[in-house]
Amino acid sequence: MTQGQTSAIDLTLGDLARLEEVVDREALSDVCRSFFELFGLSIRVLSKDGTLLADVHQEREICQYVNRLPAGAAACARTVAQVKTATPDGAPVLLPCFTGGRYRVEPIRYQGRQVGRFVIGPYLPAETRAVPRSLLEIDPGVVDDDALRALAEMPRVRPETAGRLAAHFRKVVDLLLFSSHRAHLTSEMHVASVREGYRELAEKTANLQQAYNRLKELDKLKSNFLATVSHELRTPLTSIIGYSEMLEAGIAGDLAGEQREFVETIRRKGDHLLALITSLLDLSKLEQGALRLQREPLSPKALLDEIVTTFMPRAREKSVSISVDAADDLPAVDGDPVRLRQVLSNLADNAMKFTPEGGSIMLRAVETDLVGGEDGEMGMVLMAAARPAIRFEVADSGAGMKQEELTRIFDAFYQVDGSSTREHGGAGLGLSIVKRLVNAHEGEIHVTSEVDVGTTFSVTLPAVETDL
Ligand SMILES: Nc1ncnc2c1ncn2[C@@H]1O[C@H](COP(=O)(O)OP(=O)(O)OP(=O)(O)O)[C@@H](O)[C@H]1O
Ligand SMILES: [Mg+2]
Repeated sequence: MTQGQTSAIDLTLGDLARLEEVVDREALSDVCRSFFELFGLSIRVLSKDGTLLADVHQEREICQYVNRLPAGAAACARTVAQVKTATPDGAPVLLPCFTGGRYRVEPIRYQGRQVGRFVIGPYLPAETRAVPRSLLEIDPGVVDDDALRALAEMPRVRPETAGRLAAHFRKVVDLLLFSSHRAHLTSEMHVASVREGYRELAEKTANLQQAYNRLKELDKLKSNFLATVSHELRTPLTSIIGYSEMLEAGIAGDLAGEQREFVETIRRKGDHLLALITSLLDLSKLEQGALRLQREPLSPKALLDEIVTTFMPRAREKSVSISVDAADDLPAVDGDPVRLRQVLSNLADNAMKFTPEGGSIMLRAVETDLVGGEDGEMGMVLMAAARPAIRFEVADSGAGMKQEELTRIFDAFYQVDGSSTREHGGAGLGLSIVKRLVNAHEGEIHVTSEVDVGTTFSVTLPAVETDL
């Protein structure tokens, strides 16, 4: 059998070659004890190879008597050896002892196979009338009172009674074997099924580990690929944009109407492409943990005012109102100015894209606390002390989203299906970058939304701690 294969369980008797493997010795001894108590006969159970498994006997006086004589002890040892090695094949074996006693050796069979044997005796055949010659040969002076009394003390059993007692004992042992074997098989089956379950689990775990390693490898390749390609594209693209700007500015001579239009399109599309490439580069840097933040204290209100100034022309063009609601004296937020502007612009850009004419966008900042959790020992979450923080909100009265979309929109390249999304273009990278940037600042981002009512993104970032 090759490794890894499991052997089928032998539901026949494959396992039961030896009695002692199935039947509990204690249970066998109990059966022998009650046999002895009921009938006063010594009884022993031996395994197929002669190992003594249970033994309840009483040393007979006649045995003690002959064992005191050298010749008697030797003859006794010979008899015992014979009894021990007797192998009854089907029928019982009756072994005479030189004292006149008798041993009855019976096979123990189970489902047609011999698995052990039992020995009843010594007992005196009921028909015994005189001191046997074999005893006289060992000790010619035996015919004294002591020896005769000792012999008379040996239990007398008629042949048919001996047969019935043996049959009775065999039945009890058969029953014991049957129930023990059943329990044995059940537990074997249980062990085998557990083993099989474990093997399957180990195989699946190995496969999963392999798939995980492969995915990790692919993910790394993808990040490297994105980083390299983006980097290689950026340099020629900056030239394209630069030259189109120069053409637009008339550095290479005046442009006729259509020429100007074409150059403008080249510049606009170039700008778009550059924004996309920058996003990809940002994302791969964030994924690789290679983005360094340059943190400094920043005024929340100033940040929001800046965003409004940037978006005001688009808002006017689209007839959407955009305003700021933030106190002047809010604590400073501890962030990287370039990256925080990126976060807020992305959110404002989305709000602008998904808010129809006549709608409104509100940028808010309020003081709050940031309570972070940290995994402690034994998987317990240790609550860190609350840190002062600023919560920025970008709320719009736009298209809104269904609840089931709210967790997916932070995935890279994910865009909610529908014509409005496609109409607005974009690559679906904005929010995934925003989320990673917020996390890099140890902050949190949440979203609430209702279809056709509007969406609010809130970003909570640590404030600069002031010693008061
Ligand atoms: N304020 C919002 N209102 C309604 N839907 C939104 C809003 N903000 C984001 N979404 C949905 O989430 C999707 C993902 O936003 P995300 O900013 O990541 O990508 P994008 O804006 O489509 O593209 P990009 O930001 O890369 O230009 C959007 O396509 C849109 O479907
Ligand atoms: Mg976006």
